Amino acid sequence: MKPVTYLILGGGSRGTTYAEYAREHPEKAKVVGVAEPRDFFRRRLAERHAIPGRQQFTTWEDALAVPRFADAAIVATQDNLHAEPAIAAVRAGYHLLLEKPMAPTEEECRRIIDAVKKSGVLFGVCHVLRYTDLTRNLREQILSDQIGDIISLQHLEPVGYWHQAHSFVRGNWRNEKESTFMLLAKSCHDLDWIRFIVGEPCRSVASFGALSHFTRQAKPPNAGTRCLQDCPAEVEARCPYSARKIYLQRAARGETGWPHDILTSSVTVESIADALRNGPYGRCVYECDNNVVDHQVVILNFCGGQTAAFTMTAFTEIGHRRTQIFGTHGEMWSDGETISRFDFLSDTWSKTPVSSGHATLLGGHGGGDYRLMEHFTAAVADGDQKQILSGPEESLESHLMVFAAEKARRQNKVIDLL
Ligand SMILES: NC(=O)c1ccc[n+]([C@@H]2O[C@H](COP(=O)([O-])OP(=O)(O)OC[C@H]3O[C@@H](n4cnc5c(N)ncnc54)[C@H](O)[C@@H]3O)[C@@H](O)[C@H]2O)c1
Repeated sequence: MKPVTYLILGGGSRGTTYAEYAREHPEKAKVVGVAEPRDFFRRRLAERHAIPGRQQFTTWEDALAVPRFADAAIVATQDNLHAEPAIAAVRAGYHLLLEKPMAPTEEECRRIIDAVKKSGVLFGVCHVLRYTDLTRNLREQILSDQIGDIISLQHLEPVGYWHQAHSFVRGNWRNEKESTFMLLAKSCHDLDWIRFIVGEPCRSVASFGALSHFTRQAKPPNAGTRCLQDCPAEVEARCPYSARKIYLQRAARGETGWPHDILTSSVTVESIADALRNGPYGRCVYECDNNVVDHQVVILNFCGGQTAAFTMTAFTEIGHRRTQIFGTHGEMWSDGETISRFDFLSDTWSKTPVSSGHATLLGGHGGGDYRLMEHFTAAVADGDQKQILSGPEESLESHLMVFAAEKARRQNKVIDLL
């Protein structure tokens, strides 16, 4: 079998991660093209995969202007730059793996799915949580009737205090105008996952949430505007969100991966200090142009009568998502590393440890990044959409749940989806 060939559109963090699958499995996949405007990232990806010069491009438009030269495209540009490259790629005949969220608006999501259906290509959204060993194991237990029928579920996404500060206060996803609203950016995974576990369409949804803490009103007295420059030492020492604490002290301990590699392409204590003095990540968290919420709850009512409660909050340690599922014959609890099940007949708990990752760049999201690539590549090799767990209809459906939940929060009312 010839390896499946890939064109990467957007060779930043995620594009580079997915491409890594080809280095781990050269017999199954090969990256043959890249479109990326930033020289360092484009060159790095091209070198890692020995991409010929004629198939290195600065923009997705340039890459899709030439006749199709790969089996599949991966669109890993930023949220507000998904719809156009995605539609152009499927029209050019590429099978498509599209980063989540599909797009920031319902209209764009529908246009993407229309284009996919018209062109008949294989399609997947990078809803990596569907692919983890934890999810597979949990579903196996549910589908083999280990807890009876699901009646309700609660699910927590602990974003983590410094992850919130990094991505959603100082970073790329801080402002809705530049990217999208928090629930879509961060938690479309979770609503999609809840839908996958419950196994029924959502009937109606309500939601509450706000930006409560990362505001000028919450700024400590006498704090400055930039951590390294004008914040008094005694004020900064009491701030858990200090950029010195989050980045510089960790870099000094030898940490060079995410999130440091977002600040600079070559991580040293000096380059991080420079980025903090001059760039967005050195700003006081109470003085940024952020407007996305830092906590939100969503309650969901499914067609089979099941209910679910979801919480996203910044104010946690960074950790695994936690879920409790309540069935007619048992209860399940997952902390991301173990699935515990209580059986009502025997009154006993049983525990199943699950793999929480894969020890490479593809190890993120509990091994979901790796398994997603494994499934998508096999689907393309076999021409079989069923091997993709996050296909067009279900991905659109779960995105519509997210748009409805956000509408419910903004309008302070229950929204019907059917
Ligand atoms: N599935 C997940 O769990 C997950 C996790 C994190 C991020 N994401 C999503 O992945 C996407 C990418 O995020 P990221 O962290 O890799 O961002 P990134 O900024 O590191 O990568 C995006 C890349 O697109 C490039 N780009 C910009 N304009 C372009 C153009 N015209 N043509 C080609 N490339 C262009 C940028 O230079 C950048 O390198 C986002 O939509 C994000 O929400 C998904």
